[in-house]
Amino acid sequence: MKLSELASQTAREFTRIYGRQPRWIVAAPGRVNIIGEHTDYNDGFVFPMAIDRYTVIAADRPARDTKQIHLHSTLGDKPATIDLARPLKPFPKGAWANYPAGVIAGFLSRGLNPGGFDAMINSTVPLGSGLSSSAALEVATATLLEVITGRKLDSVEKALLCQKAEHDFAGMPCGIMDQFISVMGRENRILLLDCRSRKPELVPMTDPSVAVLIINTNVKHELTGSEYPARRKQCETAAKILGVPSLRDATADALERVQGKMDEVVFRRARHVIGEIERTVHAAEGVRASNWPTVGQLMYASHSSLRDDYEVSCPELDAVVNIAQAIGPKGGVIGCRMTGGGFGGCAVALVAAGSVAAISDRLASEYERRTRIKPTLFISRPAAGATLLQS
Ligand code: GLA
Repeated sequence: MKLSELASQTAREFTRIYGRQPRWIVAAPGRVNIIGEHTDYNDGFVFPMAIDRYTVIAADRPARDTKQIHLHSTLGDKPATIDLARPLKPFPKGAWANYPAGVIAGFLSRGLNPGGFDAMINSTVPLGSGLSSSAALEVATATLLEVITGRKLDSVEKALLCQKAEHDFAGMPCGIMDQFISVMGRENRILLLDCRSRKPELVPMTDPSVAVLIINTNVKHELTGSEYPARRKQCETAAKILGVPSLRDATADALERVQGKMDEVVFRRARHVIGEIERTVHAAEGVRASNWPTVGQLMYASHSSLRDDYEVSCPELDAVVNIAQAIGPKGGVIGCRMTGGGFGGCAVALVAAGSVAAISDRLASEYERRTRIKPTLFISRPAAGATLLQS
């Protein structure tokens, strides 16, 4: 669905629930990460792009003057109310309203009080599939609060505010990648982000012969809750043993030298991160030079490392990558890997634009034959970041 259609649909839903037209409409995209996984919280590089799947919010001042914020969603979630007359606390763990609530708390802590409003939330970012539906919701909320409070935040501050919402209200100690790309995405650009300096570089991705294919395995393994913080701790342990502030400062050689002092699992986690940071920088150079075979090899190497050393893949993601690799360059597949946090969700492939239909058919049928699960496939050009559609 086009963004304009999604916006009209959201406005209609707003009117159906609240009985009038919305005043403001904002949108923020999901993302797919081309390479650079589990590197953001190690001060490394990531290389994501925004996808043309958005979370849209239509909103207006309440009909009566109140201090209440009403949040409705089209996604089958229960409506939520936030009372600004009381201190804002997180909803129970797992509640969807924690994402907007955390962002509202971030604005309040800066002395930016939006006052009461009515909102309708709608989205085409598939939920819980590693395409950052939560960051899209946070960044859309922040974009709405910017227009309501009349105070535009600097992009870095905006991304950090949304990340803090996720930490403090959703209880997920995520890195900075997802919120950054949802704020900063640009059409036909992939974002090479140095997560230490937070310096963004937009790398053009304009080659019409290459397409980005996203393959949703449609599985979600409920490990993510504990596994993600556990990986972060293992990385910190490795950095401590190496005597560096973060794994960004370590080299493969230095890691070899301290191998004897390290738990075997911690060693493998660090080996992934150190290698992945290097691969990400090389892949960005490859995209700049349209050196697709190199980019493809780096994507496969990233997947193997995430599967074997970081242990965040799963049989379904491995099946997709395996099938893609079997189709190979002759069939138009350049490279493929899991994308996002892992344990299910999506894989991303770079493919020859002329072969998208044939590759999608083959991936879908072979994946279903192996796993008995129907995947969902779609392509996306690198899309624009958060926008104000109506004010
Ligand atoms: C999740 C987190 C990101 C990042 C990825 C793994 O998407 O939100 O910050 O750590 O996992 O690369």
